[in-house]
Amino acid sequence: MTGRLDGKVALITGAARGQGEAAAREFVAQGARVVIADLNDDAGEALADELGEAALYQHLDVGDEADWEAAVKRAVEEFGPPTVLVNNAGILHFSELAKTTLADYERVIRVNQIGAFLGMRSVVEPMSGAGGGSIVNVSSVEGLAGMPYLVAYTASKFAIRGMTKVAALELGSKNIRVNSVHPGAIDTKMVSTAIGGVEVDLSRIGKKLALGRVGRPEEIAKLVLFLASDESSYCTGAEFAADGGATATHALKV
Ligand code: NAI
Repeated sequence: MTGRLDGKVALITGAARGQGEAAAREFVAQGARVVIADLNDDAGEALADELGEAALYQHLDVGDEADWEAAVKRAVEEFGPPTVLVNNAGILHFSELAKTTLADYERVIRVNQIGAFLGMRSVVEPMSGAGGGSIVNVSSVEGLAGMPYLVAYTASKFAIRGMTKVAALELGSKNIRVNSVHPGAIDTKMVSTAIGGVEVDLSRIGKKLALGRVGRPEEIAKLVLFLASDESSYCTGAEFAADGGATATHALKV
């Protein structure tokens, strides 16, 4: 059976759980070899074991330059140069602008924004050497519009949208495509982690959307798959929303 990612080598950050995990599963099913990169070593190792020879786990803090060097080196040694990079790792922090500490602001920027920058920078050389590839940067609907209590997160996600376009312009001649993905509310543990582990009922948010529900990680993985594959060969520098209709309206209340 042929897969939509046959022959690709992908590095996915934040792939131990949530949307990154869903992408890793989809990519392996479609014939890619996948480096699962995360801070959560136990979950990452377990996922790599489950996925078998086409996957390996690599500890990577996306905000750390040396970690990126080690991760790309390992990918090259074990699977070959990465031809797909998914900058998916991200963290959320809720606080009023007036009460947001510099430490919290910088923590979010380091992971979401600097992480995506370092990731793109790290793969340019090996990806160009391999003849090109696809970089998928996971932004958010907060990269398209603002959200109260999310100043650092919104700033980081707008930055991802912007740097995606710069990278697309610079790297097109190297046959590297770069696009941003903008998920709406997706059913993962991100929100609950941000508020200290308390379980959150996301269905209330879902009811306000055109599709009447929050999204599943697998639904974002399908979009990431399209952008990673050669099916999106004419897409670069573009924004792809998968948000149940969240950004289709400017209405305050229905
Ligand atoms: P999640 O919290 O379930 O997964 C995030 C993963 O990133 C975890 O495995 C975590 O260990 C890892 N991670 C955190 N900091 C890291 C670091 N410094 N280095 C490497 N890995 C790190 O969240 P989810 O929902 O899967 O988020 C994936 C991406 O989607 C994030 O960029 C997030 O901002 C974005 N997103 C999420 C939405 C949602 O509603 N869940 C909506 C829009 C965007």
